[in-house]
Amino acid sequence: MDIYEQKGHKFIQSDVFEGLKLVQNDSIDLLFIDPRYNIGKNFRTTRDKWDSDEDYLNWAYSWITVCIEKLKSTGSMYIMTSTQFMPYFDIFIRKQMKILSRIVWYYDSSGVQAKKYFGSLYEPILFCVKNEKDCCFNAEEILVEAKTGAKRKLIDYRKPIPTQYNNTKVPGNVWEFSRVRYRMGEYENHPSQKPVCLLERIIKASSNRGDTVLDPFSGTFTTSFVCEALGRKSIGIEIDTEYYQIGLRRVLGIEEHKGKYIRREPKIYEHDLRQEQLPFFQVANNG
Ligand SMILES: C[S@@+](CC[C@H](N)C(=O)[O-])C[C@H]1O[C@@H](n2cnc3c(N)ncnc32)[C@H](O)[C@@H]1O
Repeated sequence: MDIYEQKGHKFIQSDVFEGLKLVQNDSIDLLFIDPRYNIGKNFRTTRDKWDSDEDYLNWAYSWITVCIEKLKSTGSMYIMTSTQFMPYFDIFIRKQMKILSRIVWYYDSSGVQAKKYFGSLYEPILFCVKNEKDCCFNAEEILVEAKTGAKRKLIDYRKPIPTQYNNTKVPGNVWEFSRVRYRMGEYENHPSQKPVCLLERIIKASSNRGDTVLDPFSGTFTTSFVCEALGRKSIGIEIDTEYYQIGLRRVLGIEEHKGKYIRREPKIYEHDLRQEQLPFFQVANNG
């Protein structure tokens, strides 16, 4: 296990269960969970394939239970897995939390997905809260363009004083963001890195500045990266030392050199959140 903490971000290199022991119960405002999907991806340290579906689900149910304990009573959780296992997660989680949205993260793919069936172009995300009546949802922070199809601004004549229709809205539950690909500015060497814009929407919607966000399967620490840009604190757990190093460099500009941590200039992304006025990423084309 290795731990590094700076600027409100805690980096824990360990197995998820060991890492979660370092997180206090009822202390987390937002959980983003992007675990192994049990579909056979190569995550260097871990094999993303269990002998049976039951083994995978039992493993997942164990850390889901611990993660929920870490959330404050006002907290929210966004959790991902493969399309084939999400129904099991859904049934398990809805006994403990209120599922407010079943989100489809849709992406187009130029590559051929499948030739003999309909290839998968989405990943499911559950958005759940502990208490529907007392939870954070910053609708104003995540508005997208309401596409009316009209060239001119439409007027609502049903109102006592005719007013222009809103041209923004809260996104629906189908989110279109491209996947992170090689050669994109934000790309790191990881097989299932999540896009910054996906985390941007989640973190803006379900947390406030100064809140703490926990990501127990951090990979390249996209969650912590966006937290740093948006003024949130973060705790990230990742088992693989190389991905952990990517996280330190990505978020803090820190690299390990001969057992010591040294500061290097953080990689500047072509579209770095810190360089631009927020919101920046694809804000207007979803809904
Ligand atoms: C789907 S990826 C997360 C990607 C991340 N959201 C990102 O944007 O880079 C899952 C990560 O969980 C890590 N992992 C797998 N098993 C783990 C375990 N038992 N404890 C902690 N991390 C684990 C893998 O190394 C992998 O990086």
